[in-house]
Amino acid sequence: MNTRVSGAVADAVHTAVEAAVWAPSVHNTQPWSFAVSGDEIALRADPDRRLHVADPEGRQMLISCGAALFNVRLTLSALGYEPEVRALPDADRPLLLATIRPGARVEPGEHTRLLHAEVERRRTHRAGFAALPAPEHVIEALTAQAGAERADLVTIESEAGVRVLAALTNAAQDVQSQDRAFALEVMRWSRPPGSARRDGVPARSYPAAPRRTSPQHFAQRDYARGQAWGSQADDLPVSTATGLVAVLTTLGDCREDWLAAGQALQRVLLHASAYGLSAAFHTQALEMHDLREFIRRNLCAGAHPQMIMRLGFALDETGSIRRPSSDVLEED
Ligand SMILES: Cc1cc2nc3c(=O)[nH]c(=O)nc-3n(C[C@H](O)[C@H](O)[C@H](O)COP(=O)(O)O)c2cc1C
Repeated sequence: MNTRVSGAVADAVHTAVEAAVWAPSVHNTQPWSFAVSGDEIALRADPDRRLHVADPEGRQMLISCGAALFNVRLTLSALGYEPEVRALPDADRPLLLATIRPGARVEPGEHTRLLHAEVERRRTHRAGFAALPAPEHVIEALTAQAGAERADLVTIESEAGVRVLAALTNAAQDVQSQDRAFALEVMRWSRPPGSARRDGVPARSYPAAPRRTSPQHFAQRDYARGQAWGSQADDLPVSTATGLVAVLTTLGDCREDWLAAGQALQRVLLHASAYGLSAAFHTQALEMHDLREFIRRNLCAGAHPQMIMRLGFALDETGSIRRPSSDVLEED
């Protein structure tokens, strides 16, 4: 750490990187690394953690990194610094996604504090939701959160639309589970019970006996691969509602859009979490070019679908894991 940087700024920079790693990432690949030089944080994508089969272009890798970037920005704001971000600053170094530094001192707003409190609490849900619908005013606020990051949260209101999206998800899951390359890649990132690894999808983060959700069932990824993994049902009543189905979209579909989608995703998820709402993701169909194109044209009015999710109230809590920030941080 450069000696000209004050202790408070150095602490803020480290706290921001510690928060960054709590971002969601596809299969919990955590495909990022950070370098701190003086008061500047450089965020890089880690191509060794890209899904070569499911994500050849690195779209989901950049969405994941965008979510981490949002956590850095949010944390600096919560600590009273205006974040100064230069996104994708160098075309010659494509893995360098953004540089961020703490700028002028500003008092954090109420909403910043609210979202920041959710960074480590938010979890991906992988089951049905309680029958209680998500309140209208919260959904409207989620749409505004996505809009503030140059993305759209398209809620699928019609029953037919939800049926189509569920059918495409289930078809994609079936195709991928029969495809050896896809299945091996999921296997590489699923963790058996008791694993000491700090990345990948741990067995306790999905139910051992998944129930169908209604009125529409959205297939889950098969992380257990037929083995008796997953958390056991406890005394809680079983929730089986599909919840509100939504697609996060962007107008363009290049690296900048994927990074923006990730920031929008995390902003939406943290706001949802602050109001007690959880999200379940079903992105299988977006990994298959023809299905993604079909969804774009028929359900997203031509905008590019980046994430498919269900939103609702989850009664059970799931666990998650992360590599410590020291594993992903290089310092000058
Ligand atoms: C781009 C992207 C795609 C994802 N796709 C799925 C998915 O299809 N199914 C799923 O269960 N989770 C999906 N997830 C959630 C990740 O598995 C989850 O973020 C990761 O395991 C870390 O767990 P946590 O979100 O509970 O902290 C996705 C996350 C991202 C960022």
